[in-house]
Amino acid sequence: MTDLYPREKLDEIVNRMDIVTLISEYTPLKKSGRNYKGLCPFHGEKTPSFTVSSEKQVFYCFGCSAGGDLFGFLMKIENLTFPEAVQKLASRTNVTLPAADKKAKTERDNREILYRVNRYAAWYFADALKKPSGAAVLNYLKKRGIEPQTIAEFQLGFAPDAWEGLVSFLKSKKVPLTHAEVLGLTRKRKDGTPYDFFRNRLIFPIIDFEGRIVGFGGRRLEDKPASEEAKYINSPESPVYHKGLSIYGLAQAKKAIRESDEVILVEGYMDLIRLHQAGIKNCIAPLGTALTFSQINTLRRTVERFVLMFDGDSAGRKASERALWLMFEAGIHPRLVRLPDGEDPDSFVQHHGGETLKAEIAKANPAMEQLLSEELKKTGLKVSDRASAVRKLLPLVQALPSELEQRGYLARMAQFLGTDEASLVSLVARQKNQEETQPREAIEGPNPKEGPLRGGVPSGQKISLERILLELYVRDPRLTADILNRELFRQFEDETIRRLALHLEENFALRKTDRCDWLLNSDHGFDPAWIAEVLVASESWPEGEDLKKTALKSFNRWKLKKLQYELERLTGEIQLAELKENRELIFKLLARKNELASGIKELQPEN
Ligand code: UTP
Ligand code: MN
Repeated sequence: MTDLYPREKLDEIVNRMDIVTLISEYTPLKKSGRNYKGLCPFHGEKTPSFTVSSEKQVFYCFGCSAGGDLFGFLMKIENLTFPEAVQKLASRTNVTLPAADKKAKTERDNREILYRVNRYAAWYFADALKKPSGAAVLNYLKKRGIEPQTIAEFQLGFAPDAWEGLVSFLKSKKVPLTHAEVLGLTRKRKDGTPYDFFRNRLIFPIIDFEGRIVGFGGRRLEDKPASEEAKYINSPESPVYHKGLSIYGLAQAKKAIRESDEVILVEGYMDLIRLHQAGIKNCIAPLGTALTFSQINTLRRTVERFVLMFDGDSAGRKASERALWLMFEAGIHPRLVRLPDGEDPDSFVQHHGGETLKAEIAKANPAMEQLLSEELKKTGLKVSDRASAVRKLLPLVQALPSELEQRGYLARMAQFLGTDEASLVSLVARQKNQEETQPREAIEGPNPKEGPLRGGVPSGQKISLERILLELYVRDPRLTADILNRELFRQFEDETIRRLALHLEENFALRKTDRCDWLLNSDHGFDPAWIAEVLVASESWPEGEDLKKTALKSFNRWKLKKLQYELERLTGEIQLAELKENRELIFKLLARKNELASGIKELQPEN
C-alpha cells in the first residue's frame, strides 16, 4: 500500500489537515501536556485515554490500543479503505493526487471546473461594478474610503439587483448550471428554474492560499432596511469551500505574514480590507463569525505569533475570549489589541488613521496581561470584588500554554488579593483535574518478550528501558543523537525495538527530517498501532536540556542493567569453567568479570 500514492502527496495532505483538527470533528480534544486527550471514539470510556499528538501527527488509545495516523483514523472511524481515506482527505485539503485511477482524475477535474465557474462569477461581479448600474456601489466604497487599487486587489464586485443576472451570464458562457448550483451561486425555484443567490450585494471573493476562488461573501447595501435581510450572506459549503477551514485574506496576506512572522486576526471583511489599505497587510479574518481550531492550526503552520484585534463591542469581546480559549488550547498566547467601545478596526482607521492603529498594535500586550490589567483597573478595594475578579480569570490563567507564565500571573493575582501565592496555587491545584501524565517507571531486568512486532510493550505502567530510550530518541532525534544513535541501537536486546530504532535512524538521515508519521504507511512489518503508541508516548518526555539529561540517565541505567546482566551470565559461565577445570577460560572470564565489575561501579549511583 506504500506505493499507491507518493509520500510527498501524503505529506502534503498531512501538512494541510492537522490530525488534531480532523479528530476534533469526531471527539472533543483537550490539550494535555504536549498532546491532546479525549474520550476514545472507538471504545466506550469515561476517563480520556485517547491521545493525539499534533507534533507527531498520530493518535493512540491507551485504553483499547487503537492507533495510527490521519489516514488510519479516518479508515477506522468511517470504515474506509486506505485509498478511500486518502482520496477523501485529498479532496478536503485540495491536494491533487496523481491520476492513479480514473475516479481520482474525475474528481480533480470536477474541482477544476468548480474553480473555473467561481472565476466566471467573480468576473461577472467585478464587471458589474464597473458598469453604470454599479456606480452607486462604487460610490459607497469610495465613501467608505476604499481605493480602486484595493478593489482590484481583493477582486471586489457587485451582484446586480436581478434574479437571473449571473444565471444568464453563465448560460452565455455555456457553463453548466449544475456546477453553479453546487457552488451555491444559484438556487432552484420550485419549478426547477435557477435564480441568483447573491442579489444587490457588494461581493467579496474568498481566495485560497493558492489564489483560487473558493467562495463569496456578499454585503447588503446600505439602502435596505436593516431587519429585512442578513447584513452578510456567504457561499454555502461546497467541494471547494469549507467554512471552518477557509480563511479570508490569506492569499493577500501571506507574504506579509511570512515577513513579519506575525498574523493579525480581525473579525470582518471590511476590517481586513481597510487595514490592508492602511499598510497593515498581515491580517486575516475567520469566515462567518467564529474562529475555528482548523483555522488556527492552518495558520500556525506558517506563523508563530498571533495578534487578536476584534471589534470593540461586547460581541467582539466575547468573540475574543472564545478565540483565546481555542488558542490557549492550541498552545498559542496571542497579543490582544483592545479597541475603544463601538469601534472596529475599520472605523478606528477611519477616525484615527492607520499610523495610530499601527502604534496600538505595536504596543499591544499579551492577552492575559491585558485581561488582568483591565480587571485590576476596574475592581475596587473590596475583597469580595477582587475575589470574584480573580475567580473569573483563574480558568483562563490555568489554560495558559506556558506553565511559567501561569505562575507569574498567579503570583500577581495572589498579590492583588492580598493572599500568598501558595494558597492560590493550592486552590488551583485542587481545581485542576488530575490528568497530567504520570511519569512512567522502567521495568527491571531484561526486556519482556511479547508479540513479535511490538517491542517493550508496557505491562501496566512499567516499560522497558530500551523502549524508553526509543521514545526519547523519537522525541527529538537531533538533540539526543550524542547518546542515542546507531551504535547504541545495535546493542539493543529487544529485536523489534532494535529494528525500529535502526530503521528510524536511517530514515531521519536519509529524509533529512525528524518527522515519523510516514512510518505508519510503509511496509516495514511493524504493528502501526504500536508505532503510534511509541510516537504519542514520546511526546510526554521533556524537551531541551531536560530531555538530554533524561536520555543520559536512562542510557546509564540501560548500560548498568546490561553489564549486570552480563555479569550474571558470566558468573554462571565461570562456575561451568571451574567444573570443567578449564584454567585458561577461567582466567579469561575472570578478567572480563573484573572489567564488568569496575564498569558497574562507575555507573552505579554514588550512594
Ligand atoms: P460585522 O457586522 O462586524 O461587519 O461582522 P463588518 O465586517 O464590520 O462590516 P461593515 O463594516 O459593517 O461593512 C463581521 C463579520 O462577520 C460576518 C462577516 O464575515 C463580517 O465581515 N458576518 C456578519 C456574517 O457572516 N453574516 C452577517 O450577517 C454578519
Ligand atoms: Mn465594520
